[in-house]
Amino acid sequence: MKYSTVFAGWALGSWLGVATAMDTNQSPGLPVVASATSPVLQKRDAFSCYGSTNTSLSDCQGIIDTIRADAQQNFTLFANVCAVWDKGTCKVRLCAQPYISRPVNRTATWLATYIASPLLDGCIGKGQEGVLADHPNINSHSGTYRLWVS
Ligand SMILES: *[C@@H]1O[C@H](CO)[C@@H](O)[C@H](O)[C@H]1NC(C)=O
Ligand SMILES: *[C@@H]1O[C@H](CO)[C@@H](O)[C@H](O)[C@H]1NC(C)=O
Ligand SMILES: *[C@@H]1O[C@H](CO)[C@@H](O)[C@H](O)[C@H]1NC(C)=O
Repeated sequence: MKYSTVFAGWALGSWLGVATAMDTNQSPGLPVVASATSPVLQKRDAFSCYGSTNTSLSDCQGIIDTIRADAQQNFTLFANVCAVWDKGTCKVRLCAQPYISRPVNRTATWLATYIASPLLDGCIGKGQEGVLADHPNINSHSGTYRLWVS
């Protein structure tokens, strides 16, 4: 399975919708930062589970297997670009933030590791979508990437 590259605008847009809901503090299903200190995460990384989903763990596992199958592969993303994987009910997006000065580079191993934990075990396995970022303020332009599983 090849990954596809798309612009992040719509993904960011939908997330900013959630951010707006959070600001007004009136909407149910607000995102909650589940943990910023999970042992598997690098220090500056944070993840958040949000919404609710019936995404199947085995579909997501299929994406992980595909990514691991070419472990030497690296993903280089310029500002506002996403790599996208789709399998059944599961969608994974690795998106570069809009104002980065250098491309985001991630290895296949890095991706597979973080999709599995915290995003699958912390969010999808509990019926929620998840996003990982290299900045604690996930709803901001800070940091260099966002990794979404939905
Ligand atoms: C998940 O599945 C249940 C049962 O089929 C359904 O009621 C619910 O609306 C679904 N939730 C989402 C977020 O799709
Ligand atoms: C991907 O990056 C790793 C670590 O930076 C490097 O060792 C490897 O050779 C790269 N793979 C390719 C195909 O460029
Ligand atoms: C990412 O990889 C590209 C192409 O190999 C390189 O030009 C760029 O400097 C790298 N960026 C970082 C942050 O390592």
